[in-house]
Amino acid sequence: MKLSSPHFNVMYKACRKAAKNIIRNFGEIENLQVSLKGPGDFVTASDKKAEKIIIEELQNARPDYSILSEEIGEIKNDASFKWIIDPIDGTSNFLHGIPHFAISIGLEHNKEIICGIIYDPIKDEMFAAEKGKGSYLNNQRIRVSSRYKLKDSIIFTGGPRFNAKDKDASLKEYMKFSSIVTIPIRKLGSASLDMAYVASGRCDGFWQRNLNYWDIAAGIIIVKEAGGFITDTKGGNKYIEDKNILVTNSKISDEMIEVLR
Ligand code: IPD
Ligand code: CA
Ligand code: CA
Repeated sequence: MKLSSPHFNVMYKACRKAAKNIIRNFGEIENLQVSLKGPGDFVTASDKKAEKIIIEELQNARPDYSILSEEIGEIKNDASFKWIIDPIDGTSNFLHGIPHFAISIGLEHNKEIICGIIYDPIKDEMFAAEKGKGSYLNNQRIRVSSRYKLKDSIIFTGGPRFNAKDKDASLKEYMKFSSIVTIPIRKLGSASLDMAYVASGRCDGFWQRNLNYWDIAAGIIIVKEAGGFITDTKGGNKYIEDKNILVTNSKISDEMIEVLR
């Protein structure tokens, strides 16, 4: 890999190790035990196992760092560094045998994400970035697209969940965008990969309500280092607190914010 800092190497190793397990389980999807975590939110034995592998690796290398991970929640430690983990982002795809999901690991330092990895183990695509060092897909430098008209853009979204409080608002946004873009809106089912696809120019813009920090943490640095733009859906910077995010190639940002207003 082009990135080779000690932090990156720790994340890379954890990611590779968990991926082996995930790939094996994906091949045996029918044998997986599936438990219901909440309505519409399935958690597989694979999720938990992948999380355990990642956390063990990260803790071995940096025992004093804090952790926020989707399944186990917070492990509080040294306050200045924190790993933010989504062991499988795209669990519903995984569960249904759809090969589109990723491991996402971000590293926060003093409340800022400084390093991130989003790894799609099926396509063997590793999106990664470090502050000030650019974004990469495997060993190639990536950049956001240069499309500047929303009308000509390919845009992604996710949700809404069947019980979301703001379901109507999400659907309204969808209706508005779909009357502008000529290519139908995509819903691929993995928010971290949606962000990685904006970073690599495959997608021009992505918006979604109700995303958690672990869905977007790694994506934040990967998008920024690729020249992309991240705001909340009003154009402000409260996308972590408010959980509503807009991610673009920067060129179609104003037009998308206008629609979301
Ligand atoms: C989900 C995926 C999905 C998004 C959901 C997330 P999970 O994460 O990122 O694309 O629409 O809001 O919860 O549950 O598969 O880790
Ligand atoms: Ca997720
Ligand atoms: Ca997950």
